[in-house]
Amino acid sequence: MNYNFPQLTGRLLAWYGENHRDLPWRHTRDPYAVWVSEIMLQQTQVKTVVPYYERFMAAFPSVHDLARAPQEKVLKAWEGLGYYSRAKNLQKAAGEICAQYRGQIPSDPDALLALPGIGPYTANAVLSISFGVSAPAVDGNVRRVASRFLALNEDITKAGAQRTVESHLTALIAQTARPDLFNQAMMELGATVCHPDSPSCPRCPWQTDCQGHLLGCPQAFPIKPPPKKKRVQQAACGMVQDPEGRFILSRRPVQGIWANLWSLPLCVADENQNPAHMLAQLLAPLSAVMPSEASARLRHVFTHRVWLIDGYRIPVDHPLSHQELPAGWVCLSLEEALAYPLPAPMPPLIQALL
Ligand code: ADE
Repeated sequence: MNYNFPQLTGRLLAWYGENHRDLPWRHTRDPYAVWVSEIMLQQTQVKTVVPYYERFMAAFPSVHDLARAPQEKVLKAWEGLGYYSRAKNLQKAAGEICAQYRGQIPSDPDALLALPGIGPYTANAVLSISFGVSAPAVDGNVRRVASRFLALNEDITKAGAQRTVESHLTALIAQTARPDLFNQAMMELGATVCHPDSPSCPRCPWQTDCQGHLLGCPQAFPIKPPPKKKRVQQAACGMVQDPEGRFILSRRPVQGIWANLWSLPLCVADENQNPAHMLAQLLAPLSAVMPSEASARLRHVFTHRVWLIDGYRIPVDHPLSHQELPAGWVCLSLEEALAYPLPAPMPPLIQALL
């Protein structure tokens, strides 16, 4: 297909100029701020990110502030956004940027890509938005737009299809002196017009050239393999509460789901295991008696698995703070507990079990 690339790029930027949302990270070229925003925006919607971004930038205004903050404080600021490895990598990378680059975010692609949590998408977003480098930032939304435009007849998860998308976008972005706006415009088009299920083609600056639209089936793209079934696991969680209303939180292991965050004592069962029995065993040293019935049930969906968590109220008749607790366990009032970094479903579960 022969496209008029300068004209397509011109139409996209004109559309963006008229239609873009006013978002806080669009008022800055500071590479630190752009980097933080792009990490937060991975797998997370703009409207969720805005307040987190503003609080995070107020709490950690520079790479140095982030690098020297206690990890607990960073996790607390991230609480509710999910995918906590993003926050841990962000802080780890901030440490490396201070140690190796005196706190200046490098403008060299290889140096950026060597930092924890920075892949080609984030590197190109920072390079284009902060340093004016002509490099397309290609995430799932942008791939959707491009694969519709090209009516790309290949599985988008395959490297070949991704290379086709990238070379098309590289040719397009080369036509503009504003690669920052080009990348923001592609993200905006994906988010506000070229929706996954119901693209608003009449509002699209590329409608007349879009092969998906011309074929009458933009929704058919991108072509994806059938989704894998998520693994479902049963889990049990206990609110072990003493007569003073204080209850136990335990620190999650350093690896795996919710690593380093704090939760009510939690047992996740493999097949053939009974999570309530596992929890009863875990809590036996506290002379805690498990009730036969759960008081709350919660379903938490991760990328590749689902946890069905039964919540148990487990009152004990002695003050827990005077009891020897295992390492990594603490006994807290509600107010104290809510100041700890907790996984997103934990605050509502705690409230439901009080
Ligand atoms: N999604 C990913 N990056 C984005 C950005 N900079 N603005 C809006 N949505 C985005």
